[in-house]
Amino acid sequence: MAAGEEGAGALEFMDSPFLQACRRERTPYTPIWIMRQAGRYLPSYRRLRKKVPFKTLCRRPDLASEAAVSAAEEIGADAAIVFSDILLLLEPMGFPVDYRDGVGPVLTRRIRTPRDLARLRAPEAGDLGYVYDAVKATRRGLPARLPLIGFAGGPFTLAVYLIDGGARRGFRETKAFMYRHPAVWRRLMTTLSRAAAGHLARQARAGADALQLFDTWVGCLSPADYRAHVLPYMKALFRRLPAGLPAIHFGTGTASLLEPMREAGGSVMGLDSTVDLGAAWDRLPGACVMGNLDPCVLLAKRPLIRREARRILSAARGRPGHVFNLGHGVLPQTPVGNVRALVDAVHEASGVMEAR
Ligand code: CP3
Repeated sequence: MAAGEEGAGALEFMDSPFLQACRRERTPYTPIWIMRQAGRYLPSYRRLRKKVPFKTLCRRPDLASEAAVSAAEEIGADAAIVFSDILLLLEPMGFPVDYRDGVGPVLTRRIRTPRDLARLRAPEAGDLGYVYDAVKATRRGLPARLPLIGFAGGPFTLAVYLIDGGARRGFRETKAFMYRHPAVWRRLMTTLSRAAAGHLARQARAGADALQLFDTWVGCLSPADYRAHVLPYMKALFRRLPAGLPAIHFGTGTASLLEPMREAGGSVMGLDSTVDLGAAWDRLPGACVMGNLDPCVLLAKRPLIRREARRILSAARGRPGHVFNLGHGVLPQTPVGNVRALVDAVHEASGVMEAR
């Protein structure tokens, strides 16, 4: 392609390795982005956070776009992700979230009994306008060749925060609620999956090029429970998404759930680092995969990082449709140089492999 010539922008963008991989097309090298790439491991992010609280960062489109764009550029990623959080969707639904330094997100109100569901409202189109403004600002701020990923949390993962308050206590309250109040659970999951689908569709309309559904905690369920209590709502959610946009379906601890998760939807399946990427991919015919380096590998020395990157690339066996990523978010104590070294290693090693 005549890169740099006028008019090449749009074409270059259509051909971005990330979007090509999401369509299972051949790519010049394996594209990579990092979950939580705009986070505390980045000195530039920590500087921004010294000036403003996390929620302000999310609510100010100029700052949110600065965080997203600079993170993608600093590490040389092949995609950017909108700077926001999955729990912000719960606020217009009647459940405010407080982000406390050193603690994490705290819901000031929770669902403890079926009666508390009376408080849960469906969000309206105008709620979270700041997220859609951030999508627009980020799209404008990104080079044309870098695609932008919009995202939302899966209904089960959102329910974990509403009921258990988080993942720390082993999902006991959430599961007990699910088993004890099946009719109320259906209402809760229906409301949450519609809200998440609407939120994703509005990010697509604002300019997101791909969508990711984070069902981070769904791996605590058995396949039977996933099928009975989650799958129908995930199916409905994916059906509501705009056609033609890649949808990434991610969870952790999901080794036993990959088939039903694939059935639920998404063109790209996110893999955590406990599965062998090649063997997991064999179980997902027709799918693309994203993953799956252990985030802790980035705390080790560079030669190991490069070795592990090559190991995962060889597990992909040159099949088109691999987006390189970690198996979960990058840890705050990760040296940023190691993240850059990983991105370079993936680009270099896969470029050589593809050329063979
Ligand atoms: O680059 C990016 O990925 C930025 C966008 C983003 C954030 N959160 C920003 C954030 C994304 C995609 C998320 C997703 C998210 N948020 C998930 C699903 C993915 C996953 O990691 O499992 C979950 C479960 C949450 C909920 C959440 N938000 C937690 C548990 C925490 C505290 C712990 C932590 O990892 O920081 C947050 C806060 C949060 N969300 C921060 C950022 C940058 C840190 C805020 C700060 O202190 O500056």
